[in-house]
Amino acid sequence: MRFTDRPTLFSSVLLALPSLSSAFYLPGVAPTSYDEGQTVPLFVNHLTPGLSRDDQLHSVFAYDYYHPQLHFCQPEGGPKDIRESLGSILFGDRIQTSPFELHMAQNETCKAICGEVKFDARSAKFINRRIAQGYNINWLVDGLPAAQLHYDAVTQTKFYSPGFSLGDLDDSGQTVLNNHFNIEIDYHRVGYRGKSQYRVVGVLVYPESRADSRVLEDGTADCGTRNTIVALNEEAETPLTWTYSVSWKESPTAWATRWDKYLHVYDPKIHWFSLINSAVFVVFLVGMVGMILIRALKKDIARYNRLDMISLEDLDGTSAAVEDGIQEDSGWKLVHGDVFRCPKSPLLLSVLLGNGAQLFMMTGVTVVFALLGLLSPANRGFLATAILLVSAIFGGISGYVSARVYKAFGGEAWKRNIVMTPLLIPGFIFCTFFLFNLFVWAKGSSGAVPFGTMLALVLIWFVISVPLSVAGSWLGFRQAAIEGPTKTNQIPRQVPPMSGSLRTIPSILLTGILPFGAIFVELYFIMTSLWTNKIYYMFGFLFLCYGLMIITSAATTVLLVYFLLCAENYRWHWRAFFGAGMTGGYVFLNALIFWATRVSFGGLTGTVLYVGYSALIGFVVFILTGSIGVFASWAFIHRIYGSIKVD
Ligand SMILES: *[C@@H]1O[C@H](CO)[C@@H](O)[C@H](O)[C@H]1NC(C)=O
Repeated sequence: MRFTDRPTLFSSVLLALPSLSSAFYLPGVAPTSYDEGQTVPLFVNHLTPGLSRDDQLHSVFAYDYYHPQLHFCQPEGGPKDIRESLGSILFGDRIQTSPFELHMAQNETCKAICGEVKFDARSAKFINRRIAQGYNINWLVDGLPAAQLHYDAVTQTKFYSPGFSLGDLDDSGQTVLNNHFNIEIDYHRVGYRGKSQYRVVGVLVYPESRADSRVLEDGTADCGTRNTIVALNEEAETPLTWTYSVSWKESPTAWATRWDKYLHVYDPKIHWFSLINSAVFVVFLVGMVGMILIRALKKDIARYNRLDMISLEDLDGTSAAVEDGIQEDSGWKLVHGDVFRCPKSPLLLSVLLGNGAQLFMMTGVTVVFALLGLLSPANRGFLATAILLVSAIFGGISGYVSARVYKAFGGEAWKRNIVMTPLLIPGFIFCTFFLFNLFVWAKGSSGAVPFGTMLALVLIWFVISVPLSVAGSWLGFRQAAIEGPTKTNQIPRQVPPMSGSLRTIPSILLTGILPFGAIFVELYFIMTSLWTNKIYYMFGFLFLCYGLMIITSAATTVLLVYFLLCAENYRWHWRAFFGAGMTGGYVFLNALIFWATRVSFGGLTGTVLYVGYSALIGFVVFILTGSIGVFASWAFIHRIYGSIKVD
């Protein structure tokens, strides 16, 4: 009984968590019920690049739906912006009103969106290029993205893939523009105060190309015939009519589960398999390393302490020789007078570590939030907003940690530490982001973050993050300095030259590989969903990966530091930081490989942006893992030097 009780209790708690969280009704999560015939608004979002037929990513720019060269019909009086959260804007959403008229549960066979539009040669070129690059149109109906139905041959399931294609390439390589939209909406009937109401639970669009659709004399529309293709002429003007039809279908899907069809895991078996594989590998490796290390340490400590006893007991003649002969020959004990010596550039290191601690907390909290279902895809941009706010609030942690570390290093310039902690790294990240944004803006892409949002970011940073960081620093500096268990000698020891894999570059390259291996699988999915604007929701995987990354970073760095100390090299701080931080370097390298194999951009701007953003992500991972490495090694060193006797 005892054994069966626990798992069921545990799993029922786990199962209850998501439903608990959905009861909170975060903004945008409460269901909307419509009466029959009531207008259901259709909002348009930006056009995003997708993977083209050859599975290549051709662009990273998003375009505004009402980009003049696209010639989509505008609502009367011009499109209006829909209010969005900060995070949703940062992630590129540009949601606007549209001229589509959808009425709940009322079919529409054919309707023109507006009169005839004419594509000049320049627009034709623009749009043909976008079609060739695999651009997708993104609509939102009642918060649900309009999707295209896809079939996954591996799992043999149908699923909704958000966004539908602007056009297609036919077999001869001719670009074909889709000018007719078959909108199919699933609705669910609910009884509410005696009468039926309806909720939107699924939106599919089957785009088609119909060359002979037109607006008739009497104002009605003729949606033309299927399989007549619209090919935009790049030399002359092409007239065209945008049309749509709507069919409503009753569905048994309840509102609460309407997102399930969208959240499709490509080949979950392989996903799980590779993840479990790497988890087992990591646990095995860490266990082995841990065992060997503990055994070696126990032996070392026992030997050191025994030698101590001998030298205390025989104070005459021979003991000195014994002591010199045995104790000098090996081991990390030799550097006890230097291991807590202040590293080079203590100010910079303490600032990095402070920011690393902030990142660590922020990532942890976000992943846990996501795991509990608090960041459902129904809340567009909530994830990004949450990350922003959480990281701003954790500014306090960065100040506190930075101050304590700096004090432990015996740093004097505490004013500079207080100022640099909240300004240096976030400032650097913001400035690069701003610079990239100028590029996007110059390209005329809607992905550019508006000036107002930038200003809001700076405000959040200065109003929340900086004061909290300063307060944290103040608290940190008031605490007593962290003292090492051994005293630091006046004169620094000579560091012998390192050989083999303990030399700087090989040791750094080797240390970063394992943590990178732990996140490698998940990284691919994150990258694809980041660049192609797909929903990322595999937070369970992400949680596991984050855990694995922490464990491996800590374990490999501890091992590195142990070897360094055994080789009498006590300059471990920066080595540990760069060694563990090399994970970020590999993340960047991986992005470059992805770029070489899966991405084909024409222009320089796209390349600069891709490489730039990848480098920025790599840099953030560098600080995060580097800090994990240093803190883990620090704790380790405290532990081992605390368990030997030093006279
Ligand atoms: C709309 O048309 C579809 C077929 O295209 C049909 O199955 C459905 O019942 C119709 N809905 C209404 C409300 O008439």
